Amino acid sequence: MLYLEILGNLPEMAMDEVKAMLELSGGKISGRDYLFLKLDADERAFPFLQRLGLAHEYGELLLEAESVEGLIEMAAEIEWPIKGTFKVDTETMTNCSHNVRDLPRKLGAVITSQGHRVNLSSPQTLVRVYCGEKLYAGIRLHYFDPKDFERRKAHHRPFFRPISLHPRVSRALVNLTKARKEILDPMMGAGGILIEAGLIGLKVYGVDIKPEMVEGAKINLEHYGIKDYVLKLGDATELEKVFPGKEFEAIATDPPYGTSATLAGRRRDDLYRKVLRSTYSVLKEGGRLAIAFPADFDGEREAEAVGFTLVGKYYQRVHKSLKRYFYVFEK
Ligand SMILES: C[S@@+](CC[C@H](N)C(=O)[O-])C[C@H]1O[C@@H](n2cnc3c(N)ncnc32)[C@H](O)[C@@H]1O
Repeated sequence: MLYLEILGNLPEMAMDEVKAMLELSGGKISGRDYLFLKLDADERAFPFLQRLGLAHEYGELLLEAESVEGLIEMAAEIEWPIKGTFKVDTETMTNCSHNVRDLPRKLGAVITSQGHRVNLSSPQTLVRVYCGEKLYAGIRLHYFDPKDFERRKAHHRPFFRPISLHPRVSRALVNLTKARKEILDPMMGAGGILIEAGLIGLKVYGVDIKPEMVEGAKINLEHYGIKDYVLKLGDATELEKVFPGKEFEAIATDPPYGTSATLAGRRRDDLYRKVLRSTYSVLKEGGRLAIAFPADFDGEREAEAVGFTLVGKYYQRVHKSLKRYFYVFEK
């Protein structure tokens, strides 16, 4: 049994991202306590879980208890798989309904009594205790270092455009499509989504209507060591012409939200409708599209009119004048 802690800012999207990865690797989410997920999965899931964008960490789940006393009793009955030194670290979630103040000390004493040594400054094994409705204890196996994503934020890229999603969100959009081999971003801008897709080993296809974006996205992809890409100057409303005869496994994109500069002279809603139609026509049967639209555009209705089925919809308020939904559709 594994545990996984998702991030708190887009929890439903984060949970569906995990679900999508488990659908690819085998396994399922078997329980949830706020941001803490129990996964019915084994090490075959690791390469897919490591792709996640909206996750904090995952590990091996060892104990689940209704009370602090219960947890300590159970802890004494198992053999702790500690490698080297250890430290107990508690995560008190906002729904924590137990008094966990003394828990690290008590649990530390149980583990020490089995012959393991504590090292508070640089432990080799991190024992994690989560407090929510219930209590959980496990061993951390993987931590998603925020610095890895921060490093790829728009202003750190050689070709800089401010209109770009956070790398964690871009990564999640890619994962929500369940892409295994390839992905297309038909309005790639500076290539934020493609960078995240390329880094997890997908072949990336990109299109933009502006030549400087095609050039800029190439510079950015090369900067992050991504080599397997095809970038084209073209129109996202005519993808059959840009890639004649090609069908894509997955598509993820973040269309412009309405400033005249990025809409290239089109009416916004008309552009969105045409993009939906065009992406549908180049997507494989069963393939997925992950796309963002401002909240005042009914993406669900418009996509269903084209033939898509909605599989996920997540709200995000970016600032006062930008509220959007991320959608996941299936053909
Ligand atoms: C919001 S930006 C994409 C940002 C990108 N996801 C990133 O992270 O850098 C939208 C892009 O769509 C492009 N665009 C607008 N109309 C287009 C069209 N009809 N076909 C292709 N690209 C288009 C704009 O030039 C712009 O670069």
